[in-house]
This record gives sequence, structure tokens and C-alpha cells, in this order.
Amino acid sequence: MGGINYSEKIPNNVNLANDRTLQRALEHWQPKFIDWWKSMGPSDFQGAEAYLRTAVSVNADGWARYGAVKMPDYRWGIFLADPVAERRIGFGDLMGQPAWQQVPGEYRSTLRRLIVTQGDTEPASVEQQRLLGHSCPSLYDLRNLFQVNVEEGRHLWAMVYLLHAYFGRDGREEAEELLARHSGDADKPRILSTFNEPISDWLSFYCFTYFTDRDGKYQLKSLAESGFDPLSRTCRFMLTEEAHHMFVGETGIGRVVRRTLEVMKALGTDDPSAIRRAGAVDLPLLQKYLNFWCSSSLDLFGNEISSNAAANFANGLKGRPDESQYTDHVLREATLKLATPEGDQEAPMLNALNEVMRESYLKDCEIGLKRWNRVIERAGHGALALALPSAHFRRSIGSWVGHPVDPQGRMLPREQYDRRLHDWIPSEADRAFVRSLMQRVVEPGRMAGWVAPPDRGINNLPLEHEYVQLQ
Ligand SMILES: [Fe+2]
Ligand SMILES: [Fe+2]
Repeated sequence: MGGINYSEKIPNNVNLANDRTLQRALEHWQPKFIDWWKSMGPSDFQGAEAYLRTAVSVNADGWARYGAVKMPDYRWGIFLADPVAERRIGFGDLMGQPAWQQVPGEYRSTLRRLIVTQGDTEPASVEQQRLLGHSCPSLYDLRNLFQVNVEEGRHLWAMVYLLHAYFGRDGREEAEELLARHSGDADKPRILSTFNEPISDWLSFYCFTYFTDRDGKYQLKSLAESGFDPLSRTCRFMLTEEAHHMFVGETGIGRVVRRTLEVMKALGTDDPSAIRRAGAVDLPLLQKYLNFWCSSSLDLFGNEISSNAAANFANGLKGRPDESQYTDHVLREATLKLATPEGDQEAPMLNALNEVMRESYLKDCEIGLKRWNRVIERAGHGALALALPSAHFRRSIGSWVGHPVDPQGRMLPREQYDRRLHDWIPSEADRAFVRSLMQRVVEPGRMAGWVAPPDRGINNLPLEHEYVQLQ
């Protein structure tokens, strides 16, 4: 099991050849996807040969093949993790019943909405990142950007497959709409606001892959628990690819930290303006970027109290990430203490699942922070340690919206908050400075001055390898 058939027009491990109607419908969508890729994907690099991995199997070990490809020739396909024999619904009121191989009529529109919302984020991020190639800090980074981009394209395929295979005509219409909405478009924006923020510099790209792709990981983990088995299997394989996206974020920020510490050592000062003059990112500036992207990504989990989240869980559509680590899978009796601006409140756990997910996400975010801070402390700059902002800071969704809370979680007088906001998130001047660092470096093995080289190259190749051959 697990092998992927590359002899077909659309590589797949779902036996597409046996379902001619579905195959034809997807082959009809395929050229539209390629057109979208060429007009909205990485700008000006369609002729470049990038050293990319392509899935060849869904087995955890040895699932990818590496080689130089032009991105429009990338073999996007449909890959589901192998079925689990006799899989049963693992949570909610239907716990223990056999998982569904077809969409239950009563959950059809909810499942479609969950799939469309997830699917919309995939091409959105490709659009957000389309200009970054022009200012890449190295060929190694450029290759990583393209790897993330083609895999987000494949994640779109994953969701479009489900829409086509299980949702009939409405599914096909939704698949068209996924190519018609565009990130930041005034008339037809992407569904979630974080995916309409432009990503115009690589510091933002590292933060996006660290924080926002990690939100993706948590969404995929909760959908991987779904009682709708094809969705679960699709998401399980997507998670394999997703891990690399967060690696790009974590190591990217780590390399910025390392380079900054080198510059501080060479200059013998931690004065931010001296560090900036030397062409590096001072740690307080990095902290502002972390604050911005973390708070923006926290909104993606939705309202603390949500009847949709309760219904999705009770009905077996969307579980908690790593559902098996919990003991209570029904949650009809459980409660959760929630911090609100009016004080602590006890809420039914079932209604507070967005918050449960947000809390486990934040724990996962802490891991990188600990690693970076170890490096900062070892360099003797423990006072400049980085931190995640309070989950109540700068929220646009939920009970903390509009409350003047600082990144440490303290409620401030409104006037003080407004005055100090740009001490906490990048100001226009900060962004302009970061943009000024974004000079394109494309000699094999060389790095821009604001970021240290990675510890190793891709797939055991040396760092000097020409990871992207530009035309
Ligand atoms: Fe994705
Ligand atoms: Fe991703």
C-alpha cells in the first residue's frame, strides 16, 4: 500500500482510473489550476529549475523523491494516507460508530464549509508569498519557499479532490471558487483575514511559516480526527508535508537570532540602532514581528465560546488535535475556566473547544522560543530573551477584541495602549528597515547579511549546491 501512480495525468493513490466521471471532472479543473499557478504563483520563476521533493508514497519513511523541476511541471496529485481497518469515530456523541466513507446527508453543508475554509488557506498563502523570490536571502531559502509553495498547491488539490469526489455539483462549484478568490483582493478576498495580509519580506515569511502554518497543523490535526474518513486520511498525509513548512519558520527565525548575536558580538553592543546600521535585525525588532504574527494567527482559532465548535465535535466532524491523548472524548459533563475581560468564567468544555485548541497550539509555539532563547542566553544576552505575546493581546476575534492589553497581558489605559502599540508590533519605519535588508542573494552557498547559514543543506547536499537554477 501507499504507492502513488505517476503514469496518470493526475498522480494519485485513490484509483482515479476506476472512476471515469471523477477523473474527467478533475482533469477539467487541472488546466485551471495550472493557469492559476502561472498567474498567481511565484512571480517570474516559472522557468527556474528548483530542487524539490515530490511525494512518491504515503509511507512515513522514504515518502519523497528529490530532483530539479520547473515548478509548472511539478506533479501535483491526490494522496491519501492508507486506510485504518475498521476505523471508528473517536469522539463526540457518535463515538464508537464506524467512520463514514460517504458524507452523511445531515452534515453535508457543515463538512463542505470545513473543507472549503481549509482549502482556501492553501492557495491564499501561495498568493501572499508570490513576490518573495525577488528578494531571497539565498538559493537555499528560495528553494524552501518554492517547496512550501508547491506543497500548498498540493494541499489545494487535496481539498479539491474531496469536493469533487463527495459533494457533487456544489463541490465542483466550490473548487472553481477556490481559484477565483485571491489574497488581498478588494472584491473577492480569501475567507480568513490573516490570509489577506501581504508577506513582503522574509522575516514575515519565517514568522508566517512558524505561526500560521502551525495553525494549519492544528487545524489538520483536528480534521485528521474526523469521522468522515476520506477527510481524515487526506489530512493525515498533509501533515507529513506540513512539518517542513514549520521547519522553515523555526530554523529561519533561529538563523536570524544567530546572525544578530554574531553582529552584537562583533560590535560589542546590543544597541538596536548600531545593529540596524550593521544590517542585522535587532532582537526587539524580531520580538515585534513575533508579536504581530502570533496574535494574528491566534485569531484563526475563532471565538472562545462557539456553538459551531461544540456541534462539530459532538457530531464527530472535527475533533481535538491528538484526541487520543485525552481520557474524556464526549465532554458532555466537562467545563473549562476561561479568562475574560470581565473575570474568570466557567464554560461548558464542548463550547470552549476553540480555546482548548488555541492553548495546545500556544504550547507548541513555545518549543521554538525555548530553542532560540537557549542560544541567546548562551551568548550572554538572557535579558533579551524572546517571548510569545499574551493570548489577549491585539485580538480581532473573541472576548478580548478591542481591549487595550499589552503583550504581557496587562490591561492598560486606552491612551497609553495606543501610544505604545508600535513598541510592540512593527511600525512603518520598522517595516521599511526590514524591507531595506531584503537584497537578493543568488550565488550558491552565499547568505544575505541579516541571516546566518543553516546547519545543513537539503537532503544531505552541501550548502553550496545550486538549489535553484535561475534562467
Ligand atoms: Fe497547507
Ligand atoms: Fe503549510
